[in-house]
Amino acid sequence: MTSAALRSRAWKLLEMVTTPLLPSDYLDLVSPLRASADLRGRIEAVHPETGDAATIVIRPGRGWRGHTAGQYVRIGVDVDGVRLWRAYSITSPTNRRDGRVTITVKAIPDGKVSNHLVRRAKPGTLIQLDQSTGDFVLSQARPAKVLYLTAGSGITPVMGMLRDTEFDDAVMVHCAPRPQDVIFRDELHDLVANKKLRLTEVHTDSDGMLDITRLHELVPDWAERETWACGPAGLLDAAEEHWTGHGVQERLHTERFRPGIVVAGDDGEVTFSVSGKTVHADGATPLLDIGEEAGVLMPSGCRMGICFGCVTPLKAGAVRDLRTGEITEAEPGVLIQTCVSAAAGPCDIER
Ligand SMILES: Cc1cc2nc3c(=O)[nH]c(=O)nc-3n(C[C@H](O)[C@H](O)[C@H](O)COP(=O)(O)OP(=O)(O)OC[C@H]3O[C@@H](n4cnc5c(N)ncnc54)[C@H](O)[C@@H]3O)c2cc1C
Ligand code: FES
Repeated sequence: MTSAALRSRAWKLLEMVTTPLLPSDYLDLVSPLRASADLRGRIEAVHPETGDAATIVIRPGRGWRGHTAGQYVRIGVDVDGVRLWRAYSITSPTNRRDGRVTITVKAIPDGKVSNHLVRRAKPGTLIQLDQSTGDFVLSQARPAKVLYLTAGSGITPVMGMLRDTEFDDAVMVHCAPRPQDVIFRDELHDLVANKKLRLTEVHTDSDGMLDITRLHELVPDWAERETWACGPAGLLDAAEEHWTGHGVQERLHTERFRPGIVVAGDDGEVTFSVSGKTVHADGATPLLDIGEEAGVLMPSGCRMGICFGCVTPLKAGAVRDLRTGEITEAEPGVLIQTCVSAAAGPCDIER
C-alpha cells in the first residue's frame, strides 16, 4: 500500500472515531490558521476610528494570497450562534510587513455584523475568510491626475489605495455628517500636511449634501481626473449621471456597498423546503434576509449580486430580480441569487 493510501485509510479511521466532530475540527482547535484548513483569520486587535467605526486587524491563515489595493474580502462571522457573511474593503496597504490585513467597519442602525464587529468583536476571535476580490482597483497606467470622491464608510477602499500608491496630483472630496464622523481624519490631514493630497471635507450636517453638478467649484479640473468614487447610492447615481452627461464616463470608477435599483413586486408565501419553514415575504425584501430572519441557514457573501455566494435552486413559483424587475420562474436546474431576488407570489427555495 502506498503511503498516500495509508494516510487516507488512517484519516478515514480517525474520522470514524471522532464522529460527530471530524479530525479537521480538532485540528482547528490547535492550528486554525494552518495552510490546508479552510481559510480563516484571527482578529488580533480592534481600534476605534470614530463613534461608530472601528478598524479590525486580522491575521490571515497560511493560504491567504494577498490583495490589490481597493479590493474587498468576504468574512464569515458568528453572531449569536449564526455564521453570517459580509464583504469589507481592505484598508491596509498591500506591503504591510507583519502580514496582517485590516478592514474598517462602520456600524449601521440594526446592522447585525457591523455592530458585532465594531462593538463586540474581541481579539483572539476566529473568523472565516475568502480570498480578496473586486475590480475597484487603480489602473495599470498611472494617471497624471486623480480624484477620490467618497462619503461615509465609502472611504475605506480609497484609504487602501492612498496607503499603497502615491500620485503627484491627488484630490479627495469626502462627505460625512460632522468632522468627528470622518473616518481616518488625522491620517488624511497628515497626507495634506505632507502635500500628498488635497482634501475638501463636506460636512453634510452644516454644509448640506454635496451637489455634484457644482463639483467644478471644488475641483475645477474634475473632468480631466481619473476618478474613484465610493459612497451611498444617491452620490454614485448622481456621479454616474454627471460624468456621462459630460462624456467622460470612462474616467469614473465606482464601488457600491449595496445593490442599486430596487423594483418591488407582489408578495407571497415563501417555503424553505429543506428547513421545513414557510413565511410570508413582501415583494421588496431579498429572500436572503427573509430566510435568515426565519432562522434558515442561507449562504451569502457580498449581499449585492456580485459574488454569487448565495445562489440557491428555485424549486417552485417565481421570484423577481430587485435590480431589473425581471421575473424568473422555477424549472429544473434554475438557480437564483437570493440577495437580489424577492418573492413574486408563492415560491419554494431549496434551503
Ligand atoms: C464590495 C463591498 C465592500 C464593502 N466594504 C465595506 C467597508 O469597508 N466598511 C463597511 O462598513 N461596510 C462595507 N460594506 C458593507 C458591508 O458588507 C455590510 O453590508 C454592512 O456592514 C452592513 O451589514 P450588517 O450585517 O451590519 O447589516 P444587516 O444586518 O445586513 O442590515 C441591517 C439593515 O441595514 C440595511 N443595510 C445593509 N447594508 C447597508 C449599508 N451598507 N448601508 C446602509 N444600510 C445597509 C439593510 O437593508 C437592513 O435594513 C461593503 C459591501 C460591499 C458589497
Ligand atoms: S451574496 Fe453575493 S451575489 Fe448574492
